[in-house]
Amino acid sequence: MATIEFKEELHSNIRRTRITYRALVDGQEVAVKCYRKPLFGLIHWLRALRRGKKIRRAGGPVPGIVYAGWVQKLQCFGFATEFLSGYRSMREVLRSAYEQSDQARVLELLDLLGRCVADLHKLGIEQLDCNLTNYLINADNVIRMVDEDDVRLHPRGLNESLALTNLANLGARLPPGDLPRILHEAYLDAWGASPGELRSDPECFEHRVFEKKQMLRIKRAARDAAPDREFD
Ligand SMILES: Nc1ncnc2c1ncn2[C@@H]1O[C@H](COP(=O)(O)OP(=O)(O)O)[C@@H](O)[C@H]1O
Ligand SMILES: [Mg+2]
Repeated sequence: MATIEFKEELHSNIRRTRITYRALVDGQEVAVKCYRKPLFGLIHWLRALRRGKKIRRAGGPVPGIVYAGWVQKLQCFGFATEFLSGYRSMREVLRSAYEQSDQARVLELLDLLGRCVADLHKLGIEQLDCNLTNYLINADNVIRMVDEDDVRLHPRGLNESLALTNLANLGARLPPGDLPRILHEAYLDAWGASPGELRSDPECFEHRVFEKKQMLRIKRAARDAAPDREFD
């Protein structure tokens, strides 16, 4: 069994059934996600491991697996990947550029993100959890994806409707209007879509962004959270 030295908590879900820590596994810096719920934790951990292997086989832009197994100290299973040192979440960098009205940087980030999703789709990878904290970016504009629990693999590729919805779910995290549209354009540019395809229909994309925003609002209202949280 590996020796795990915990350093700090990075993130937890609301019910604290999944907690991610920065830690050292046999001296190597990792992010270790701990699945703390008895039984369901095991099921989620197994799913992360199985999918994690498939994503890497497909060539997905994810950090390498360092350890997957029992975490003695927390009495649960954990999934540890190489720590992405020097990376920040897309949420943080986009929000900061947006708040500083740094339009050039916002455009650049949306371009990188749109291209990243097109590349994922080319590999048949669908990140179902479309929140902007699941994409990390470094100073050289390299993007890595984390949070593999909900990823789906489509060996024959995502169909157009699914691909459009997936991108729209990410677009719904952005302030409405120009930003989702720019994300869609960057995606299409990288994908190489031809006119007439559902994928390249801007109105359909806009509608799906709108629908997802409504769903997010309902979810937040149910949790008594602020109804509109951009870049979430
Ligand atoms: N390999 C990693 N290197 C650096 N930070 C990471 C890494 N993996 C995850 N994180 C950080 O931990 C956060 C939570 O991890 P994530 O797998 O998204 O858990 P959750 O399912 O709780 O959202 C991420 O948003 C990211 O900020
Ligand atoms: Mg996450």
